This record gives sequence, C-alpha cells and structure tokens, in this order.
Amino acid sequence: MITLGVETSCDETALALYDTEKGVIGDIILSQAVVHSPFGGVVPELSAREHTRNILPLFDRLLKETNFDIKKIDFISFTLTPGLILSLVVGVAFAKALAYELNKPLVPVHHLEGHIYSVFLERKVDYPFLALIVSGGHTDLYLVRDFGRYEFLGGTLDDAVGEAYDKVAKMLGLGYPGGPIIDRLAKESKKLYELPKPLLNDDSLNFSFSGLKTAVLNLLKREKSLRKEDVAYSFQETVVEILLKKTLKAIQKTGVKRVVVVGGVSANSRLREVFRRASEEKGFELYIPHPRLSTDNAVMIAYAGAERFKRGITAPLDINPQPNIPLEEFGRLFT
Ligand code: KG4
Ligand code: ZN
Repeated sequence: MITLGVETSCDETALALYDTEKGVIGDIILSQAVVHSPFGGVVPELSAREHTRNILPLFDRLLKETNFDIKKIDFISFTLTPGLILSLVVGVAFAKALAYELNKPLVPVHHLEGHIYSVFLERKVDYPFLALIVSGGHTDLYLVRDFGRYEFLGGTLDDAVGEAYDKVAKMLGLGYPGGPIIDRLAKESKKLYELPKPLLNDDSLNFSFSGLKTAVLNLLKREKSLRKEDVAYSFQETVVEILLKKTLKAIQKTGVKRVVVVGGVSANSRLREVFRRASEEKGFELYIPHPRLSTDNAVMIAYAGAERFKRGITAPLDINPQPNIPLEEFGRLFT
C-alpha cells in the first residue's frame, strides 16, 4: 500500500510518499524559518499564508522528483491535530480535496503519534515503551502500551522545551529556530552558570521551563559582558539534566526500561550524548531517530497513517482540524 503523508501543523510544509512494503518513496520539507526568523518565533497568520502558497507546488515537485503516478496513492494520511489551527486547515483542506478527487480514503493522524512512530521508520521497538516528546509545542512523557494506547505520565506546566530554546535564542539575538543555533554555540563553552531547575526533585513527571527562561533573562540583565556561548552552554546543560532526570524517574515509576526520545529537540547533539551515556550506565534501551526524522516531517505522518489504516481507521470527508485533541483521547477516538 502507498500513502501520501501531509503535515502542516506548524511552520513546515511537508509531504511524503510512503510504501508500506518498500519504505520511503519521496520526502519533501519546506521550512518557513526565514519568514518567521525576524519575529523570533512562528507567526500563525504568516504560517498559514505560506502553507497555502506552497502546498500545491510542493506536491507537484514531489510527484515530478519521484516520477510517481498520482493514481497509485492508496490513501491519504494527514495531521488532524494538534497545531496552529490556521495552518492545520491548509493541510486538511488539501488532503480532503485530493481524497475527493482520487476517491481514496482519508486517515487522520495525531502529530505526536507521528513523532512517536518516527523511530519505527528505522527500527521497531517492543511494547511497552516510554516516549519523551520534546518539541516546540510539547514536553510530554507517555507510556505507550501498544499502537493507539497512550498513557499520559506528565508534561510541561508552562513553556515547551523547544519554545524555551527559541525564546532564549531570541534574548541572545541569535535567530529562529533557536534550538540548532544554541546546540552549535554551546559546543564553544564549558563555563556553567548555575540556573534554576524547576520541579527537578519533586515526585511528579511534570516539567516547567518558564522560570528557567526568566532566569536566563535576569542573568543577561545582571551581567553585561556575558559570552553568548556560556549562556547557551549553561541553558542547554540545565535543560538536558532536567529531561534526563524526569525520564529516569519515569523508568523508575513504571518499571519500563525502553525509551524513545522524539520531536525537534531530540535532534540536539548534547541531549543525544547525555541520554546515550545514561542508557549504557543505567541499562535502559534508548531509541532516538535520525535528526531529519526528529523535526517535523511528513514521513512520520505517513507511517502512523499506514498503521491506522491497517486497523481500519479512516475519516469522513467532512472532518475538520482541531487545535488540540489530547493524544490519549485520540487513541480512543479513532480505534
Ligand atoms: O518537532 P518540531 O520540528 O516542531 C514542533 O512540533 O514543535 O520541533 C521544533 C523545535 C523548535 O523549538 C526548535 O528550536 C527545536 O525543535 N530544535 C532543537 C534542535 N533542532 C530543532 N532544539 C535543540 N537542539 C536542536 N538541535
Ligand atoms: Zn512536531
């Protein structure tokens, strides 16, 4: 079976053709980073406008580059939720129009489910496993018992970790998206400023990053001659320590010693290094996808869609996007 994956939940317009037998046929991602960069974050209206402008030419390019006959698409997998509603609308309208035109089924996918299963494109993971989702919109820990069976263990009470990266980068005048820039800059330093680690030692599996972000701002105000490298390094070390400690706590609480780390921030080189070492030292299995699969893409949406389609899940043509259906609920909704 061959599916087209459609992803427009935030600031990447992404399309992919995926064959359940042979793997990825084609994969295109158009980043809007240059459009949002002057604002230091995603501007929803601009994002929707860019998706609208780009999605059809991108689809044409995908078909041309892969020399693919549109009639061979068996079903269309698309991100239904969560995301910026105006951006989701574009991808959903495109998917619906194509499904109507080709007379093929529509398969709704949850963006976070896509992230979780990005790992499966490289290697299958046995159930149950823990999923740490770290992106621009989410910092969540889930216990995944099976496909579609997601148990929420904890999440951020305020900013997502990727959002904190982007905001700190903005304070330092580094551009958008901030994650990859801070990642690179932090390599130039070993000077650690002590920063707060909210909720680090409480018993919950929740996170909080807004205090950390404010602490960075205060540090910048207090000490005028700071090196950006040192701030980037201190912020990143703090973030990675928090993420690891909460993951270890989740392992301890659930007894599940299999962890996948997904979402844009899982592309972070220091996070990968620290988690890899911890997995060896503490003896848990660790799965982190290739950085191209960590950040938003449509291959993961196609893969998750194929898993849903296999289970007989499709959506009617009048389905509408939703800004935020919780993952747990989505698993139950469409099964
Ligand atoms: O998953 P994603 O592409 O989009 C959302 O679903 O939000 O994640 C985007 C986030 C951005 O905040 C970006 O700064 C962050 O992922 N990011 C990184 C790195 N690459 C992307 N954060 C830290 N280190 C990176 N190398
Ligand atoms: Zn994402």
